[in-house]
Amino acid sequence: GIRSVARGTGSYLPERVLSNADLAARMDTSDEWIVQRTGIRQRHIAAEGEFTSHLAIKAAQRALDASGLTAADIDLIVLGTATPDQTFPATSVTVQAELGITRGAAFDVQAVCSGFVFALATADAYLKTGAFKRALVIGAETFSRILDWEDRGTCVLFGDGAGALVLEGVDAATAGKSGLLTSHLRSDGRHRAKLYVDGGPSTTGTAGHLRMEGKEVFKHAVGMITDVIEDAFAATGESADSIDWFVPHQANRRIIDASALKLGIAPEKVVTTVDLHGNTSAASIPLALDVAVRDGRITKGDLVLLEAMGGGFTWGSALIRW
Ligand code: ACO
Repeated sequence: GIRSVARGTGSYLPERVLSNADLAARMDTSDEWIVQRTGIRQRHIAAEGEFTSHLAIKAAQRALDASGLTAADIDLIVLGTATPDQTFPATSVTVQAELGITRGAAFDVQAVCSGFVFALATADAYLKTGAFKRALVIGAETFSRILDWEDRGTCVLFGDGAGALVLEGVDAATAGKSGLLTSHLRSDGRHRAKLYVDGGPSTTGTAGHLRMEGKEVFKHAVGMITDVIEDAFAATGESADSIDWFVPHQANRRIIDASALKLGIAPEKVVTTVDLHGNTSAASIPLALDVAVRDGRITKGDLVLLEAMGGGFTWGSALIRW
């Protein structure tokens, strides 16, 4: 059979940094409140005229460079985003065109903060059929555009950015131990009113703003995250002890720490970027992956556990042998 092997990562953050102190200067909040509740110290905000596709293209190009590949090698793009440039076409086809790719297929996946894990599992399924050979799996967001900047309960939590992973379908006989070992996706739409955007093309005709019952999200997060990770462990025989790196969705330091504690994952194995990036939704995992690959933590042979949970609710996990 065919296995999907990770070839390289890339990421991009907009230049402008918005610190907690910057927020405190324009609304009734404080660095202390934000850090204590979330672990977030700063976030990056896209410039005027800088779109989700622009961030995605830069991240994708860096992932291609890291893989030693060119755009011509790619025949599939799966992009997770909840903040597309336009209602349609998909942001992924803009990425495709700007990279100069004219073959294969490109489409977006909408699973909010779980977007990257859903995109990864989707690309993996297509590569395994042999229908496509090399995929760009991207998470890219400009959440700053859908935040209500008058709502201090939500606007301090999110940031903009993009990350990408090149995945190649390789004959399992030649892949060695490397590759995506398992992925598990879940959703439960009964929770959709706890985290949503109050607009859209078919309802209001506007883009709308993010609304969240923070306490409700928090209450469900750790249980859902740990459940879907237990599924990954059960499917592979791997465990909290055998993984080398835990790269969770970066929503909130307290959710990450509580999940790792419940699973028995040692704190030194947890990759955390939420302090510097805020919650970048679908971009947070590939951003964190790229940080940990480039600073030398994740190296060939390492077992990497990914996890995400977000609006819907949607949630999922994946295990990759690097
Ligand atoms: N600065 C100062 N005070 C604030 C702020 C702020 N930015 N935001 C809210 N407050 C106030 C509230 O008004 C409230 O004041 P009151 O007691 O006088 O009414 C007080 O702080 C407590 O507010 P809560 O909303 O109850 O605060 P809580 O302790 O629940 O923390 C938080 C809020 C951080 C959002 C928390 O619920 C949380 O982390 N939830 C998880 C949500 C999450 O991470 N979502 C990410 C998206 S989903 C995902 O990616 C998985």
